[in-house]
Amino acid sequence: MSDMLEIEDNRSELSDEMKKLQLRNSKETKQLMTYYNCAMLEIETKFRVLSQEFSLEQDYNPIETIKSRLKSMDSIIDKLQRKGLPLELDSIENNLKDVAGIRVICPFLSDIYRMASCLMEQDDIVLIEKKDYIKNPKKNGYRSLHLIVETPIFLQKEKRLMKVEVQFRTIAMDFWASLEHRMHYKKDIDDKIQEMLVAELRDCAEESANLDIRMETVKDYIEENTEKTQKYS
Ligand code: GTP
Ligand code: MG
Repeated sequence: MSDMLEIEDNRSELSDEMKKLQLRNSKETKQLMTYYNCAMLEIETKFRVLSQEFSLEQDYNPIETIKSRLKSMDSIIDKLQRKGLPLELDSIENNLKDVAGIRVICPFLSDIYRMASCLMEQDDIVLIEKKDYIKNPKKNGYRSLHLIVETPIFLQKEKRLMKVEVQFRTIAMDFWASLEHRMHYKKDIDDKIQEMLVAELRDCAEESANLDIRMETVKDYIEENTEKTQKYS
């Protein structure tokens, strides 16, 4: 009986390996990843256009940097397996929302909401999901505004709607998240030290969030006063 179970196990492992091979090498996968790449380019371009327009109109730009990344097939397979999802092409489109990702880094907090509205107001964009980790930070201190949007890509014979994850962060939030992310790759850190680092990072996140608010206040004050000075001079 146990021999039979072992054979079954080996068979399902083998079939998983076949499915992974198929996902890594099929023409259909290449096609789907190209579609995601196109959707990512569409959204990136939308922010580049907004950035250019803002530069024309005012003396500071609400977009500091735009970063984009396409999830690798290895990461996609890892995520499907971690979540117990089928290792199939349809499963990627139906279950994963972050194959294409854009990160928009802004100088100030208010820029984040302004840029998010600018995107959502565009009539080809459909909002699928919104997670506001600025109003509701994660327990570890993580802050960022996440939107999942659907954008059309126009192919020769069809229009296809593709999902893109857009993360909005201030420079300070991004700085914190990069440091926190680094900790996840250091698996060999002692438990006690790990605990201390987690607490320290949570503290840094609070200080950093306060700094974002204080700097916004200073900026508003400068803007208000320059307007007044210009009016009366
Ligand atoms: P995933 O299955 O990991 O995509 O989680 P989710 O679907 O619940 O998405 P969520 O919006 O919480 O997070 C998506 C992405 O945000 C991650 O892939 C990271 O890029 C970023 N992120 C979320 N939480 C953290 C965090 O605690 N630290 C850092 N550094 N990044 C985070
Ligand atoms: Mg993710």
